[in-house]
Amino acid sequence: MKILIKNISEICACATRENYIRLNIDGIRNPIINGNSILIENGKIKKIGIDINESVNKVIDAENCLVTPGFVDSHTHLVFNGTREDEFEKRAMGVGYKEIAKSGGGILSTVKKTREADFDTLYENATIWIDRLISMGITSIEIKSGYGLDTETELKQLRVIKKLKDSYPINIKATFLGAHEIPLEYRNDRRVYIDKIKNEMIPAVSKEGLADYIDIFCEKGVYTFDETMEILEEGLKYSLKPRIHADEMEPSGGSTAAALLKAVSVDHMNVPLINDLKVLAENKTVITLLPATNFILNIKQSPPIKEMRKLNNIISVSTDFNPGSSPVASIALTASIGMLRYGLSSDELIYAITLNPAFSLGLSEKTGSIEEGKDADILIHSIENIKQLFYFVGMNSVKKVIIKGEPYLSE
Ligand code: NIG
Ligand code: FE
Repeated sequence: MKILIKNISEICACATRENYIRLNIDGIRNPIINGNSILIENGKIKKIGIDINESVNKVIDAENCLVTPGFVDSHTHLVFNGTREDEFEKRAMGVGYKEIAKSGGGILSTVKKTREADFDTLYENATIWIDRLISMGITSIEIKSGYGLDTETELKQLRVIKKLKDSYPINIKATFLGAHEIPLEYRNDRRVYIDKIKNEMIPAVSKEGLADYIDIFCEKGVYTFDETMEILEEGLKYSLKPRIHADEMEPSGGSTAAALLKAVSVDHMNVPLINDLKVLAENKTVITLLPATNFILNIKQSPPIKEMRKLNNIISVSTDFNPGSSPVASIALTASIGMLRYGLSSDELIYAITLNPAFSLGLSEKTGSIEEGKDADILIHSIENIKQLFYFVGMNSVKKVIIKGEPYLSE
């Protein structure tokens, strides 16, 4: 099966010699390559060039528009039940995230509804969001549990993710986030819950092979640095590599834990310790920035991007899609916020939503850039160049999604 994409205005390929790219004080490498056509053969990118002329089974006319790699969202919580629009409005009117959480709202209100939902309901909910995400260009995604906080519901969420993996052509990775919060029933006895995560949940998740990664919300008022180390070290014994919610609102030791444990990703990072950034760069830990969450929660403190450039960190930008702190499913909108709020350039951003998150998910040898030999995960947009992707704020510019060489949306 051969497909030719022709009449491309700009191929934003995001290629590099390695399978990731570092921020650099002198600027990031140009993601655009010469060419106006791409040949796909048996699901793989066969050739990129100018006016490729081959007999093929199908020609796709890009109509003089931009082509990019499929987007990779490496931090989402998209398996949940119930929505939280009332809380969204309250926050906009000045009530704090932690205040809402204390009064039983926030994460715990989604936990209650997710526990009540059966497997089929959760699966149906998730497919609605996956379909929307694909229509906005996602071809690889990470999904976390963490709205169960009991063994049964955490497993139910992870089994939903497993079914999504089996049903969709996109790449899906699963993360066990039993340590997303302390459940209400253990508020006065957190030790019992932590032991439950270690002795019951992690072994059960591992036995069924349900997760690729383990995550924790390391934040003042949630999990401490010591608890983070203890839980993630236990996960490592079961080959669950750490990704960490770290230093979102206050410095809480999350970046230090990520540095010590050689985490694959450390996420949020509004207020990390600068000393840790150097170690994270050495370890090739990806810093996953979540600018939509800062925007929604009105967090004024942005991550130290200038330091990250100086230290050559590897950064990603993800939606953090969830019903509370980020009801934002659009990676392009998230990246626009990253440009406006964090001062990231379009070159930095396009790598941050393709190659680098693919690297953090162990997928960058086969996806995340347009290079010969890689899977043909390719987007055809309705815009002319990469800068317009961030400039037309909130617009879905994705016209066609090609996943492993197969056009996904109806034409
Ligand atoms: O990444 N930080 C912790 N967890 C989520 C919030 C989830 C929720 O509000 O339901 C986050 O922002
Ligand atoms: Fe999150």
